[in-house]
Order: sequence, then structure tokens, then C-alpha cells
Amino acid sequence: MLVLGDNMNNIFSAITLGDYQLSNRIFMAPLTRGRAVDKGVPNALMAQYYGQRATAGLIIAEATAVAINGLGWMNAPGLFNAEQQVGWKNIADAVHEKGGRIFVQLWHMGSIVHPDFIDGELPISSSAVKQQGALTTPKGRDRGFAVPRSLNKPQIVEVIQQFVDAARRAIDAGLDGIEIHGANGFLVDQFTRDSINQRDDEYGGTIDNRLRFMMEIVEAVCAEIGSGKVGIRISPSNSVWGIKDSDPKATFLQAVSRLNDFNLAYVHILEPKPVAKNVMNADYLTPVLRERYQGNLIINGGYNKKSANEALANNEAEAIVFGTPFISNPDLVERFFINAELAQPDNTTFYTSTAKGYTDYPLLT
Ligand SMILES: Cc1cc2nc3c(=O)[nH]c(=O)nc-3n(C[C@H](O)[C@H](O)[C@H](O)COP(=O)(O)O)c2cc1C
Repeated sequence: MLVLGDNMNNIFSAITLGDYQLSNRIFMAPLTRGRAVDKGVPNALMAQYYGQRATAGLIIAEATAVAINGLGWMNAPGLFNAEQQVGWKNIADAVHEKGGRIFVQLWHMGSIVHPDFIDGELPISSSAVKQQGALTTPKGRDRGFAVPRSLNKPQIVEVIQQFVDAARRAIDAGLDGIEIHGANGFLVDQFTRDSINQRDDEYGGTIDNRLRFMMEIVEAVCAEIGSGKVGIRISPSNSVWGIKDSDPKATFLQAVSRLNDFNLAYVHILEPKPVAKNVMNADYLTPVLRERYQGNLIINGGYNKKSANEALANNEAEAIVFGTPFISNPDLVERFFINAELAQPDNTTFYTSTAKGYTDYPLLT
């Protein structure tokens, strides 16, 4: 474990979140990198990549599918079979050997899974509403989405169990915990937000009904692995795939109020701060969510060393999560510590399949 000082309220101070004491508050964001090229099984290259980044206070590993029909991103990993579990064990070992801590983000992509990934079957969602946008599939680039089928009650129960099973596999693989992906328009968010959720049963309509799916997953996963090993990510103000909410403030205030019941390791908010200084942007919800949420909050979206330290000094969160800076700076923590220049990431290799642009960013020393 890299120990960089014990100053309070800065990115280098230690912090206890859930079951873990973490050596600093510079966390690595979940970053889909598309290197699990063989049936979604994490490989040695991925273990090397995460091992290189082990000085992060906490690594939140990339979005990882809980079921075959939840996996619609080329070469993204899964955690729904024994082979994938072994692959994740190798990653956990690589990070632990260097004294790091690692959670894995669990997702089901819902309607964002193109039928090309699932033998032409229709994807699932809260409602039969087609999403905007397109993704690369095994059959080509820019493949537009299908109208999904809406889940019935027994099928909802099945998906919740898939999250539980994947969380169990994560812990059995030696990972330190899991983050439920409730952000960015994937399945959980497809229940939360009213631009897509058109259900008229107990999973739709009122805010509490739309949050039911999220809360049932949180409750079931906490019961399985313990709440100190569980985090959740939300993105209250973005509208990826055209998925939005008519009143994000009310919806996400209620979400964090309900999450107060669980004593989670953390809630993770992805929401870039408005850039203009001294302008209070009414749409920037993190401050009101911070006030309402009683547990540990970690925040992400465009932070650098200076803005991260300012946010901690202002008590805006317990830790700061960095995405793209960790892609090109495996030793981001050390670079921050000595005020070294940061390497810039090459976005043409974000989702390619080899070591180039993945494990070949050099360390400073
Ligand atoms: C290549 C790439 C992959 C990403 N994959 C994920 C992901 O798997 N899960 C997720 O919640 N967000 C994902 N994101 C969003 C990042 O976690 C993060 O929110 C974003 O990069 C903003 O943080 P930053 O300004 O520090 O880079 C991804 C972003 C990038 C650039």
C-alpha cells in the first residue's frame, strides 16, 4: 500500500468506506475498454492493466455483465460463469499483490443490447421503448437498437437474481466489492427515468415505483455480500441514449433518501460540475444530493488535482473518481503527489483489443 500522508481533506488522505480502509481518495472510474476478447472472460492483459493502476485508493473496474442478454458491448467482460470468475480472480490477485483494492461495476445493458449479440432475440427493458443511438456489434458498425420487450414480474425477479449471483461470484473471485451500475441509461436507469419507463404496475408511474427495481437489486445484493462491499453509481443529469427524467431532482433526491437505509460503502455520482465559476447551475444536483445522502459520497466528471482537492476541502464528497486520467497515467496517484505532468490519453485506442493504448502507457519512474 502506498502511504502518501495523513492530511485530512485532501486527495492523499486515507478514508474508510464500507468494509475497507483505503490509502487515498483518488479512485479509478469504471472504464469499458473492450479487451475481454474471448467470450467476455477477463485475461492476463487485463490483469496487467489493473495491476498497473493498483495505487488508486479504489479501482472500480469496468462495467461487467450479469447475464448474457445484458452484454451488448464488443469484448466487454461478464461475471456470469465459472470461467469469467477465474479471470476476475486473476485481476483481483494482481491488484492485491500490489496492495490495492478493487470493486467491479455490474451492469445489465437492457435495451442497449443489440439483437446481434443475442442470436436475434429482442433485448429487455422496463418498457417497449426504443433508444436513440447505435453501437458496433459482431455484424458491423452503427447498428441501431431494436424495440425491446418489457419485463414481466417473474422476469424482473430473475434479473435481480442475476445481479445477486454476479455479486457472489465477484466476492468468491476475491474482488473487494461491487458497484451497481444505475447510471448512463442502462437497465437500472431504464426503470428509474420516466422518458422510458411507461409501466403501469408497481415498477412504473410514481418515483418510488420507478425506483423499486434499483432498490430491490440493492437490497438483494447487500443481503448476499454485505452492504460494506456494495456501491451504486447514478448519473442524475445526463441523457445518454436519449433516456431522461422529467424531474431529475425529485427522482434522484428520492433515490438517495431511499439509499440512506442501506449503509452502503458509497454512492457514486457521475455529474460534471458546471464550468463557469460562481454560477450556480440549477441543474447541477450533486450539492442537494450530498445534503440528503447520509453515507459516503464519491463524485466524478472532469476533475483534476486542483478541483478534486477543492471539492474535498469544501466537503462535497469523501473521494474523487477519475476516468480518462487513469487511462494514460497508470501512476496517476504518484504523479499528483509530485505534481508531475499528466500524459494525455489516445481516444482511438479506448475500445480496441490489444495492449496498445492499454498497458503501454509508461510509468514516470
Ligand atoms: C473509454 C471510456 C469507457 C467508459 N466506461 C464506463 C463504464 O464501463 N461504466 C461507467 O459507468 N462509465 C464509463 N465511462 C465513464 C467514466 O467512468 C467517467 O464517468 C468519465 O470518463 C468522466 O470522468 P473523467 O472526466 O474523469 O474522465 C467510460 C468513459 C470512457 C472514456
